[in-house]
Amino acid sequence: MNICELRVRQFRNLEAVDMIPHGAMNIFYGDNAQGKTNLLESLWLATGGKSFRGTKDSDLVRFGATQADISVAFQAGGRRQCTDITIDTRRKASLNGIPLRAANRLMGVFCAVIFSPDHLSLIKDGPDARRRFADAACCQLRPLYMKVLAEYTRVLTQRNALIKAVKKGEQPPDITLLDAYDERLCQSGLEVRRFRKEYIEELRPFAETIYTGLSSGREALHLGYEMSEGEGNLPEAMKAARATDLRAGFTTVGPHRDDVTVTIGGTSARLFGSQGQQRSAVLALKLAEASLLSKGYGEKPVILLDDVMSELDQSRQEYILNHIEGFQVFVTCCEPTAISRLTGGQVFHMENGRLTPA
Ligand SMILES: Nc1ncnc2c1ncn2[C@@H]1O[C@H](COP(=O)(O)OP(=O)(O)OP(=O)(O)O)[C@@H](O)[C@H]1O
Ligand SMILES: [Mg+2]
Repeated sequence: MNICELRVRQFRNLEAVDMIPHGAMNIFYGDNAQGKTNLLESLWLATGGKSFRGTKDSDLVRFGATQADISVAFQAGGRRQCTDITIDTRRKASLNGIPLRAANRLMGVFCAVIFSPDHLSLIKDGPDARRRFADAACCQLRPLYMKVLAEYTRVLTQRNALIKAVKKGEQPPDITLLDAYDERLCQSGLEVRRFRKEYIEELRPFAETIYTGLSSGREALHLGYEMSEGEGNLPEAMKAARATDLRAGFTTVGPHRDDVTVTIGGTSARLFGSQGQQRSAVLALKLAEASLLSKGYGEKPVILLDDVMSELDQSRQEYILNHIEGFQVFVTCCEPTAISRLTGGQVFHMENGRLTPA
């Protein structure tokens, strides 16, 4: 996957940007609030996804304008393709001149992986963010997983509703119904875990190798999957937890309480990692995701790295700039000092929404 050309009109503070990127490394530097992240955001929209900053579509249009336009020409599937995205009150997209029913139909056609400072939550926050990461990645690679996860979530919602009603005294505990829920929940729960564990198994060697590279071999990252009930088995754990569940008013064991563990040098990255280590760990996860995607699709996703350099020492910055091999990368940063270590690629300067090759 390679972006050949980008044209942006009236998107955020970008009035008119035309860019022909480098095939490997592209660096956007500039002061704060000049439009660097906005530019990555415009590229990200070609994946068919929503803004990675959670902004609603209509807020992406430049203040005072009525419509934003983004055109991305890219090489994929052995040929040059083009997507045009227009945003007014909502987002519409076309692919190679043909309008799509919904913008998300671009998924799987153009693919990218984004690192944004918000993604530090992947390490810093509770298990929720890590489960979402694993689930989203699993869904992308194995569409069947979407159904498996949906079934689990459906039964879980039903079981929780029953338990809550019992707790509130609205109905007596219907043991037969609870038994039936438990059985179905365990069945789909084991499936959910099977998919997630398989994904983590596949991700692990990539993430660990990348982290070793980032830390110049000084630190080791390890990924694991931790089940809510420890090593126990789910049907037994669920039965044992029933009284607790009825008191709590929700289901306390199962894949919805599992975690993806990330350790550095044997201790939890979340509890003991430094800023730079946590950032490196997220980066390793994201770059590993990109490697797996390229294995799955036979096409390398474009890598978008927003503000990844801050808090990283020189050798880690160097690794990023020079060792993400075979991918087309777009990086933003503020200090041009990092750029002097660039050994190839194209540097662009962003100022007040205007982009110029440096
Ligand atoms: N819809 C919009 N119309 C016009 N301007 C907008 C719109 N949305 C955001 N902006 C402006 O875009 C500016 C630049 O945003 P951006 O996040 O791209 O900066 P940046 O160069 O990444 O800065 P930093 O280095 O601080 O991350 C902001 O000052 C913001 O006010
Ligand atoms: Mg920014």
